[in-house]
Amino acid sequence: MNINLNKNDIIEILSDKSTKLFESADKIRKEFKGDYVHLRALVEFTNICKCNCLYCGLRRDNKKVDRYRLKEKQIIDCAKLSAQYGYKTIVLQGGEDEYYSADKIASVIKEIKKFNLAITLSIGERPYDEYKLFKTIGADRYLLRIETTDKELYKKMHPMASFENRLNCLYNLKSLGYEVGTGCLVGLPEQSLESLANDILFFKELDADMVGIGPFIPHPNTPLKNASSDNFDLALRVMATVRLLMPDINIPATSAMETLKPNGRIIALQSGANVIMPNMTDTIYRKKYEIYPGKICINDSPNMCVNCIKSKIESINRKVSVSKGFRYDKE
Ligand code: SAM
Ligand code: SF4
Ligand code: FES
Repeated sequence: MNINLNKNDIIEILSDKSTKLFESADKIRKEFKGDYVHLRALVEFTNICKCNCLYCGLRRDNKKVDRYRLKEKQIIDCAKLSAQYGYKTIVLQGGEDEYYSADKIASVIKEIKKFNLAITLSIGERPYDEYKLFKTIGADRYLLRIETTDKELYKKMHPMASFENRLNCLYNLKSLGYEVGTGCLVGLPEQSLESLANDILFFKELDADMVGIGPFIPHPNTPLKNASSDNFDLALRVMATVRLLMPDINIPATSAMETLKPNGRIIALQSGANVIMPNMTDTIYRKKYEIYPGKICINDSPNMCVNCIKSKIESINRKVSVSKGFRYDKE
């Protein structure tokens, strides 16, 4: 099956209120990806960030954040524990923190590879040579959301950053052979359905291997604190539309969805998603990685999350995958 949708088709789908979209996306997910759900252990290893994205609670100008960074050994120990819990992938995520030089990241990757884990990096924009080094050492995937393809909106949301550079980073990662994850925020102020349709077409054009859709949730200590947070339904529609257009990619049921709606991740799994990223960060740091308010699992432990998510997956007759879950199965 190959569904081709143009911009107008997508806008029409996003404006519609019926549940038919979710049923179709679920059917396509089942046909192309089966009933397995891939778990990716998320380690939030630094909340220090030099960037000032208007929407994010970790932005540089938010002085109310209690900043932390994990030592290399702590990250490696966390990876070891992830492997012991049965995870096949670890996601190292953080703010853009210059403490972690290319050499430091490379040495962490080298150690983690000993645990036979797939490694996903989500550490923002870096030069080509650093991406190349990480790939050579053993990184498998990279997550870098474009956030929005609307250049004007991008500029407003990231006053100091360059849209072109973010785009370049994504194409560099692709050319280096990473599995590339991207995605967008849904519900940013002044974001139109046309702009979301363009985002979706961009994911297809990039041939992203993974697309994560995050409903925007306003953080009280950011300039966007008064924006609307009523973004769950539209985010779910964007996610399901991506599944129609890109049947064989990996699509996570994002934690932000569950923040806005009880059981939001399960609803997403039944509307086209096939991946979940349970939190593997130590409980003491979870509260401090507050990208948006109301984040789930902040008082829970890594062990609680892995057991909780496995039982939720089984409760909807889906199976926890025991493979690394690459887009094109290498195993
Ligand atoms: N610093 C890296 C980056 O920006 O790519 C990785 C960490 S960043 C916290 C991960 C994602 O959080 C971003 O891509 C963004 O889409 C999401 N995020 C930030 N603020 C958010 C908010 N207020 N609501 C929902 N998602 C948010
Ligand atoms: Fe930093 Fe990422 Fe938050 Fe932007 S979204 S402020 S780059 S952590
Ligand atoms: Fe963390 Fe349920 S996934 S407690």
